[in-house]
Amino acid sequence: MKIRKAVVTAAGWGTRFLPAAKSQPKEMLLLVDKPVIQYVIEEAVASGIDQIILITALGKHAIENHFDRSFELEHILLQKGDEKRLQEVRRISDLASICYIRQKEQLGLGHAVSIAKDLVGNEPFALFLPDDLIAAEVPAMKQMLEVYERYGCSVIAVEPVPPEKTSAYGIVDPQQVEGRVFEVLSLIEKPNPEEAPSNLAIVGRYILTPEIFGLFEKVTPGAGGEIQLTDALRLLLEQQRIYAYQFEGTRYDTGEPLGLLKASIGYALNRPDLGPGFKEHLQQLDLSD
Ligand code: G1P
Repeated sequence: MKIRKAVVTAAGWGTRFLPAAKSQPKEMLLLVDKPVIQYVIEEAVASGIDQIILITALGKHAIENHFDRSFELEHILLQKGDEKRLQEVRRISDLASICYIRQKEQLGLGHAVSIAKDLVGNEPFALFLPDDLIAAEVPAMKQMLEVYERYGCSVIAVEPVPPEKTSAYGIVDPQQVEGRVFEVLSLIEKPNPEEAPSNLAIVGRYILTPEIFGLFEKVTPGAGGEIQLTDALRLLLEQQRIYAYQFEGTRYDTGEPLGLLKASIGYALNRPDLGPGFKEHLQQLDLSD
């Protein structure tokens, strides 16, 4: 069944980005010249998915405004004869069909996904966690869709992390099937290094079968006292196979300041209009102390 819909979770408080995220959503923080969330929506669209269900929360209106039309701005750009920017502003509002649901209580990622149930319906869907940005020649979700088409089961993006970092991620117990594809034998949310079954960590891209929705209510609060998606996936594993896919590309954790800085450098260097000048500046920096 073709994947038509993507759920994007954007309901977190963004406390790691205070004070910047005090009065603006962390998903709207700047990465070169676009808000972080726009890269994620563009990845979905570039992967052929343009029905987006965005899970938001109190104080996230700037996201809705960003993807809406701004007639005043368009008018000003038209008057100025700035055709290039006018086209760009219109492109953003035409990118995808987006509907918004508010998560009224922050009870965890599993809970955030569960509230998309009625809008997703009884079909497989993609899930994006916008803290994870993946710079890749072929969009990471597009790579995963190929795996989904081959195996017809849920697919989770993974990448190896240093063993001492397992407690920041969901970790899978993998059995290699071919190349970058693994069958998931088990999975656990934020294990200590001693409990971790491997160092293959879940990254914020998933393709999920709709059976996951029936399982959230069976999940009790897990790591951090939250309803965890990983715990629902462990229940799904009792009914269906799940595959893990080690994507090709560079992942940045834009959910914390150092990760956003690294992403800014990576994305800026790759921009044909900014990269050469930025690189020259970096080369002139004295990094000796
Ligand atoms: C969430 C998931 C975790 C996954 C991570 C990827 O955790 O629960 O399994 O490894 O995203 O970014 P969070 O970062 O929201 O704590």
